[in-house]
Amino acid sequence: MGVTPTPAPAAISFDFDSLSLARLQAKPGVKWHRNPDVVAAWVADMDFAPPPAVVAAMRRVLDAGDLGYPDWKHYTGGSPASGVFVDRCAARYGWRIAEGDTRELNDVVQGIQMVLHLCTQPGDRVVVHTPSYPPFLHSVEDNGRRLVRVPAARSAASPSGWAFDHEALDRQLQADPAKVLLLCHPHNPTGHVFSTAELQSLAALAERHELLIISDEIHADLTYAPHVHQPMALYAPERTVTIHAASKAFNVAALRYAIMHVGPAWVDERLRSVPDHLFGATNLMGAAAAEAAWRDGDQWLAAALAHLDGQRTLLAALLAEQLPAVGYVPPLATYLAWLDCRALGLGDDPAVAFARRGVQLSEGPNFGVEGHGFARLNFATSSGVLREAVRRMADAS
Ligand SMILES: Cc1ncc(COP(=O)(O)O)c(C=O)c1O
Repeated sequence: MGVTPTPAPAAISFDFDSLSLARLQAKPGVKWHRNPDVVAAWVADMDFAPPPAVVAAMRRVLDAGDLGYPDWKHYTGGSPASGVFVDRCAARYGWRIAEGDTRELNDVVQGIQMVLHLCTQPGDRVVVHTPSYPPFLHSVEDNGRRLVRVPAARSAASPSGWAFDHEALDRQLQADPAKVLLLCHPHNPTGHVFSTAELQSLAALAERHELLIISDEIHADLTYAPHVHQPMALYAPERTVTIHAASKAFNVAALRYAIMHVGPAWVDERLRSVPDHLFGATNLMGAAAAEAAWRDGDQWLAAALAHLDGQRTLLAALLAEQLPAVGYVPPLATYLAWLDCRALGLGDDPAVAFARRGVQLSEGPNFGVEGHGFARLNFATSSGVLREAVRRMADAS
């Protein structure tokens, strides 16, 4: 069901650069609370307050004074957020989908695990581009499925600095078939945005090897111009399950709301074959936040992206000046920097040494063997906090 868009608000300026370290260190969320004595640049939460449109929508829910069961029967995709999602996919990505083919989730990883669980058998092989967002690796292995790695290789020809050998994957799958391609698009942690040619080759490969594609597109709205996000499902509509959330781009991860679009009819049948409550139920606040973010949050998002664009460039300058041995290509999407620290001589897990110097990064080895010698830095903060993070990282005294 479509939703009438609200008129765009008058131009507002948002301030992403006035964060004080003391205020951040007093925040209750896991990013800063886990160790308030360090600069927290690890888990993928941004340091900014959520968009005013999201906060206002949540206040409206509270002011209505009704936290009873919502009446969402007439929304075929679940809550009102599903209709806004469908409209936004058409407007933003040229991807036209039916609300009835969407299903709301509590989070993205839940959707990945449900589809793997219901659509594959123990021992089946699942293709993942590595290094990988760690829950992908756990989702495959903890479900008793086997991992087929597509390792990232350094490439000066690729705008992200990374390339994946899909021809080698094609040969490998001929010898040893797989059932699923679990795609992270855009890719965390390299920030790689799969190009049209890559998406076409992945679609052809999925057709040849009869793969189901699960495409996690949670970072889609964090793609920097001139690159644009193209849903995998545009290229392989009958084979792709797409999972999205507002949680990364609009910084509302704690609200536990995600949405899945199911392209293949057989996957939809499998999902319908299990009792509904196994999926959990959609939270009123999470749905209100996603609806407001997708309908009214784009001015905020554009301003956040402009700030993040500055941060990814500032990081390059700071590293060149203070830690020139670190390999870094600014990501094409996401606010995550994948730092090659192998030349620093800090061992397999350089985040340990950086934590001792007062900065918490994400540990490279958690992203798979390809992460040995690497660390992931989250630059979704102010320029001042980023400067302080790099100053501390470089201070080996
Ligand atoms: C690629 C990717 N997928 C999923 C998630 C987590 O999403 P959720 O909290 O909805 O499971 C993240 C969080 O950083 C992520 O980077």
